[in-house]
This record gives sequence, structure tokens and C-alpha cells, in this order.
Amino acid sequence: MSIEQQAVELIAQTLRDKPAANLMLATGSTMEPVYALLREAGLDFSLANTFNLDEYIEGNQFREFMNAQLFEHVNICSTNVHFPTLGYDELIYDAGGIDLCILGIGVNGHIAFNEPGASINSRTRVVELDVSTRVRNSQLSGAEIPSKAISVGIATILDCKQIIVVASGKEKHEAINNARYSDISDKCPASFLQTHSDVTWLVS
Ligand code: GLP
Repeated sequence: MSIEQQAVELIAQTLRDKPAANLMLATGSTMEPVYALLREAGLDFSLANTFNLDEYIEGNQFREFMNAQLFEHVNICSTNVHFPTLGYDELIYDAGGIDLCILGIGVNGHIAFNEPGASINSRTRVVELDVSTRVRNSQLSGAEIPSKAISVGIATILDCKQIIVVASGKEKHEAINNARYSDISDKCPASFLQTHSDVTWLVS
């Protein structure tokens, strides 16, 4: 089974166990094949809530990505779709917490937009993007990338009950190895995932 199929299987399992599950969702090129399979999976999203990890401070690039890749193709209720805003952590807490969080990983070890230097105690806030992240995301999307974004924090991610990380491509291998096997350090924000008890790495 491909890593994308495994990711969809875990999402399906979550929705089968709990139709009103709260899912935290990622954008990025890695997620495109996951959402393609998810669109075909015929899952029932009618009671599910989604909380995206991040969004640029200007424009709605990630919301548009999610609409095109997933939301327009499944039976999710638009009022159950959430993007980071002020009070996001409280909103998530009041909703009962996140059941499953799907993460990608940046070449520099970022998760969501928690760039190197992010604190393990960080919550949803406005962040400055690394130049390397802006260059890469601009190449991938063909659009200009703002210098700031609003992102869930490391603590927001670690509060999720279950986490899966999907990562493909050689250029991610160093970040993945640092995240999984090096000392826990803010130099590689994904290394904070070592403190969580239910993380599944899907790597190819
Ligand atoms: C992006 C997003 C992350 C994503 C990561 C990897 O900038 N903020 O949530 O997981 O970087 O992106 P990609 O899958 O395009 O390599």
C-alpha cells in the first residue's frame, strides 16, 4: 500500500470510529495525492470538522487549495471548515480537541509553519516565514508568497490525539532523520514529535 493510501486508510478509520471527528489538515504538494485518493474514498464528512494547520497572512491560498483539492468534492458542511484565526486554540479545545492531525514536513524540518526556532510551547500565532520556505512554496505554487503566515503552534499539534506525518522525496530525508532520531531541538521543529505517544511516519 502506498503511503498516501495508508494515510487515507487512517483518516477513514478515524471517521468510521467517530463520524463527528475533528481533523487537522495540511496543505502542500505532498498532500495532493492524499486528497486525490480521499476524494475517491467516498467517506462521509457530514458530521466531521476540519481545522487547517496554517494560512498566509494575505490572501486565501491554502483555503483555495483545500476547496479545490477536497472540500468541493466531499459532503463536508462549510460551517465545519476552519482556518487559523485569533482564538483558534480555544476553538479547538471547545470542539473537544483534534482526533487526527495530518502533517507534512518542510525541507528545513518545519511542521505547519513552525520554522526552526519555534518553541515547544507555541500556540496559534502570526509567524515569520523562512526565506527558504517562501522560495520553495513559490516555486511549487507559482504564486508570490507573503512573508508572514498564521500557524498553529507546536503545543497545538502535540495536543492532537493522533498524528500522522506524510513525507515523500529525497530532499526530505535529512529533515525526517533529524526529526525522528536526533536530539529534540528547536533547530528541527518536527523533532518535538518525539514527545508524542501516537505518531505514525509515512515516508517514501
Ligand atoms: C508547507 C506547509 C506545511 C507542509 C510543508 C511541506 O509550507 N506549511 O504544512 O507540510 O510546507 O510542503 P510540501 O508538501 O509542499 O513539501
